[in-house]
Amino acid sequence: MTVLDTITFQLNGERKQAEVHPGQSLLELLRETFRITSPKDACSPQGQCGCCLVLVDGRPKTSCSVPADKVEGKAVLTLEGVPEAERQLYARAFQVAAGLQCGFCTPGLTLRIKWLTDQEKILTRDEIAKGLDGHLCRCTGYVKIVDAVELIQSAKRGGAMPELVEDGGVGARLVRYQGGELTLGDRPFVADLHVPGMLHGAVVLSPHARARVIRVDTARARALPGVAAVATARDVPGDRWVGLIYKDWPVFVAEGEEVRAVGDVLAAVAAENPRIAREAAGLVEVEYEILPPVLDPAESIRPGAPRVNPKHDNVLSTTRIHRGDVEKALAASAHVVAGTWATQRIEHLFLEPEAALAVPLPDGRLHLHTQGQGIFDDRRQVASVLGEPEEKVFAELVPNGGAFGGKEDMSIQAQTALLARMTGRPVRLVLTREQSIRMHPKRHPITMKYTVGCDAEGRLTAAKIDLLGDSGAYASVGGKVLERAAGHACGPYRVPVVQIDAIAAYTNNPPCGAMRGFGVNQTSFAMEGCIDLLAAKVGLDGWEMRFRNGLRVGDTFTTGQVLEKSVGLEKTLLAVKDAYYEARARGRAVGIACGVKNSGIGNGAIEQGKCRLVVEANGTVGLYAGFTEMGQGLLTILTQCAAEVTGLPSRTFVPRIDSRFELGAGQTTGSRATLLAGRGAVAAATKLRADLDRGSSLADLAGREYAGEIVIDDTTAPGQTKKGKVKTHTSFGWATQVVVLDGKGVLERVIAAHDVGRAINPQQCEAQIEGSVHMGLGYALTEELPCKDGMPVTFRIRDIGVLRAQHMPAVEVLLVEDPEPEGPFGAKGVGEIGLVPTAGAVAAALQAFDGVRRMRLPMKDSPAARAINVGRIPDSDRERWH
Ligand code: FES
Ligand code: FES
Repeated sequence: MTVLDTITFQLNGERKQAEVHPGQSLLELLRETFRITSPKDACSPQGQCGCCLVLVDGRPKTSCSVPADKVEGKAVLTLEGVPEAERQLYARAFQVAAGLQCGFCTPGLTLRIKWLTDQEKILTRDEIAKGLDGHLCRCTGYVKIVDAVELIQSAKRGGAMPELVEDGGVGARLVRYQGGELTLGDRPFVADLHVPGMLHGAVVLSPHARARVIRVDTARARALPGVAAVATARDVPGDRWVGLIYKDWPVFVAEGEEVRAVGDVLAAVAAENPRIAREAAGLVEVEYEILPPVLDPAESIRPGAPRVNPKHDNVLSTTRIHRGDVEKALAASAHVVAGTWATQRIEHLFLEPEAALAVPLPDGRLHLHTQGQGIFDDRRQVASVLGEPEEKVFAELVPNGGAFGGKEDMSIQAQTALLARMTGRPVRLVLTREQSIRMHPKRHPITMKYTVGCDAEGRLTAAKIDLLGDSGAYASVGGKVLERAAGHACGPYRVPVVQIDAIAAYTNNPPCGAMRGFGVNQTSFAMEGCIDLLAAKVGLDGWEMRFRNGLRVGDTFTTGQVLEKSVGLEKTLLAVKDAYYEARARGRAVGIACGVKNSGIGNGAIEQGKCRLVVEANGTVGLYAGFTEMGQGLLTILTQCAAEVTGLPSRTFVPRIDSRFELGAGQTTGSRATLLAGRGAVAAATKLRADLDRGSSLADLAGREYAGEIVIDDTTAPGQTKKGKVKTHTSFGWATQVVVLDGKGVLERVIAAHDVGRAINPQQCEAQIEGSVHMGLGYALTEELPCKDGMPVTFRIRDIGVLRAQHMPAVEVLLVEDPEPEGPFGAKGVGEIGLVPTAGAVAAALQAFDGVRRMRLPMKDSPAARAINVGRIPDSDRERWH
């Protein structure tokens, strides 16, 4: 390792000297040499997300794009060096405003906000939003971040800061658990964890979407000084194949096998530092026989197409929902519309790339620090790869920096664990942004052929729907995504006759799987388009057409389930009615769309919510559960449920997600964690409450454990019944959104009315919906991840098209509460539905503006998209696409 230079600089007011390596960034220097963790690495060396922001001589700089040697003689400030009283001001403002969710973007934003609010000028909301343009937040939709900035600039001028709500049960605007530490970068993510003797990992990925692996030669990598181990398929002692539904995904591709996607792993390296690990990974030589990839799902399912995955044929799944004679019903309809809608592949772009830390314990177990969406599935699969019993792996969640479905499948947990076993030392492995994008499953592109009819009054009569989804190289949960797309294909509307057929197909494109909305966003876009087209034929406006057809209690959902409870759609329509007509009366182009999304997996899955409360000697109560905190606020919600039942202060409860107890309940998916874990927490808390009511104090109960567990096993798989009844889902969220454009066709305002059952924490609930609307607007207008020969054509964050603060319109969230009897305190999940109607509402508004009905996402040709300066993939890249 060549040492280029020794530099001297000021770090947080102290003089420091450091050796700087060729090409080393300031971010690497701060994190690796000085263990400063508030600047996060989310996109280095792009300089496009703002997570690594520091002040250099008082000016904001993205430290990932500043060469370390350039700070010679300069003063570098990170959040760690900001005076404590000022730090607490920022922490307080973000918590009061609920301006953070996962918190991965927040320290970088906070330093930017320090700089902005230290200036003389008082900024307007628009100026604040423009001032945050260098920063990406995938969770919040920025609304509450701008609120936090307003609080800070007011407080710096003597204004009062609202009190923090630090205690509360159901209905309280309780601050986010660990919100202060997250704001300041003090709560570590996996990549921030250091363990004595720790090695650093790196992976070797396939550059080809389909190729036979002739030879993997690790000799040069092994010979590099500082390398402790190089792992390949040969080193796997257990089952090399993993997968949530089908075990069709190898943790390493072996010699003689085919690679199936550009994220396939050929080798993994453990070395004394990240620099050596990356260099060694570059020395692994892989010889390929390149094969023509299968890229088109329609080609993939034709007879004779090359088989993509050895474990399954190219048709991953088929879903069929047929009820009544569709041809007859369409023929008898007064109006019929038909068309083909298409949606794009998009990237989750959670800001924290995948990371894992595996630490061998003295008792022979392996402590796996994971940020996956199901730590018990991670443990089971890692143990299987290692060929060890599950008890030998102790899994612990490090709440992650965003996931949105993209961390359901294993990423590098097994490779990290294997390296730790091979070396006997702790190993931490963190993916780069490019590796992250190549590896984890995406949102499915789906081609959707719709024919929908209605009678003369606009009442829907029948729908014939064919869906074909590109599931990429591995099953992931792709079959379930298309199943959910089919089940929700008629949206929240009463359609008596349906014929729906859905296919998920393997291809050599990046795998597709879970992403917030899980197939429902896609079909919602198509169905809402059909509703608008029919409304025009009947002569109704969008609101009236939806009000006539919206599902109510007693109606039959697309899957055949008769809805018996908590159908708040009509209430959400009524909530937006005045805003819809008022905006039209002002001459604005207005779009409206409705949405429905299951809460809970359903479709015959047995689902559990488990919780243990453990009374500690120090007067706190450990709250153990099995689902993942990923920014959605689960840990806060669980403490509120427990506080409500027991009457104890919410801060008594200390949430923990690890495998101390067997609380595995599957993935944090399907908007179900509040529904299930919330009920588990209520069940456990009820037992603790009983002991408290008998006169015991917490001190008396120290050491006692209280188990809560609920099981839902009454849902039915598609086409099946239980006790003569179809009940595909436990619960549904319902929504109506209105999108208003300004006089130039640019986004002006979104009104989002959502039936959430019961808002356990109204502020966090609003925040979930604001963040979803932000994601939905990007999905509608600017986001895409096109591939050429199976490889994404860009890894640049701005190209991928996630909206920045200045692109966001005003968002008004209207919470509607139609209690869900099967949810805790009437609550149901809200994590996904927030973006289900958004693209449809945007398409309708655009048609109202320029008369063009757009049937393909993203709608980049629209005035609304052209006003947004992200998502502009350069022509040089664009020309390389199919
Ligand atoms: S990590 Fe530096 S800007 Fe993203
Ligand atoms: S809170 Fe901003 S990325 Fe999660």
